[in-house]
Amino acid sequence: MGWFISFEGLDGSGKTTQIAGLAQRLRAAGHDVLLTREPGGTAIGDQIRSILHDMRNAEMTALAEFLLYSASRAQLVRQVIRPHLERGGTVLCDRFADSSLAYQGYGRQLDLDWVREVTRFVTEGVVPHLTIYLDLPVEIGLARKQAAFAAQRGERNRLDTQPLEFYRRVRDGYLSMARAEPQRWLVIDATQSIDQVQQSIWERLQHLLLEMGEAAR
Ligand code: TYD
Repeated sequence: MGWFISFEGLDGSGKTTQIAGLAQRLRAAGHDVLLTREPGGTAIGDQIRSILHDMRNAEMTALAEFLLYSASRAQLVRQVIRPHLERGGTVLCDRFADSSLAYQGYGRQLDLDWVREVTRFVTEGVVPHLTIYLDLPVEIGLARKQAAFAAQRGERNRLDTQPLEFYRRVRDGYLSMARAEPQRWLVIDATQSIDQVQQSIWERLQHLLLEMGEAAR
């Protein structure tokens, strides 16, 4: 089995830039890297993504929302992630199951144990070896996102229109998940420059790959 690394963070945390940078470095180091994202990453997942993001779907219930993210995830795990890992490749995923715990569990306040249980079933037990969480105060993330809209670099989706309290719960949720499982989570201060963040990720990752390599032997 190859290495599975997921990226988490609030919108505006710079995940996409960091994932692209890490993919490049890992490829240069000889990894067979597959880069994917949630929701989406498959033809079916992309159709589900457009339902989830559609601003006209304001009446979507929290439960329907969670099950749609889960459906996209089930397809992605079976069709893309698991086969690549089984071939020994490295998978980098822009958001994974922890997003549902953070946004639908902590954010929408669905029952956390239930969300965890469904998620275990949906992911067929596939858990990232490492989850990189780019931490950012909610206000900074929202301001960055706002600036991207103003510069017409981003498209507003349904999840971008929640009250501040919602994003605060999501961030607190991420931080408590990271505290509960420190061996899997790497928390990085995303207020640093792009290069600083890239460097911290790379340093910790090299350490971890070494450790995991040792453990796998
Ligand atoms: P996206 O445009 O991919 O934004 P980002 O660059 O922040 O990943 O939008 C994904 C949105 O979906 C984001 O606001 C978080 C949300 N989301 C959930 O609420 N639950 C989930 O399980 C996932 C995967 C994403």
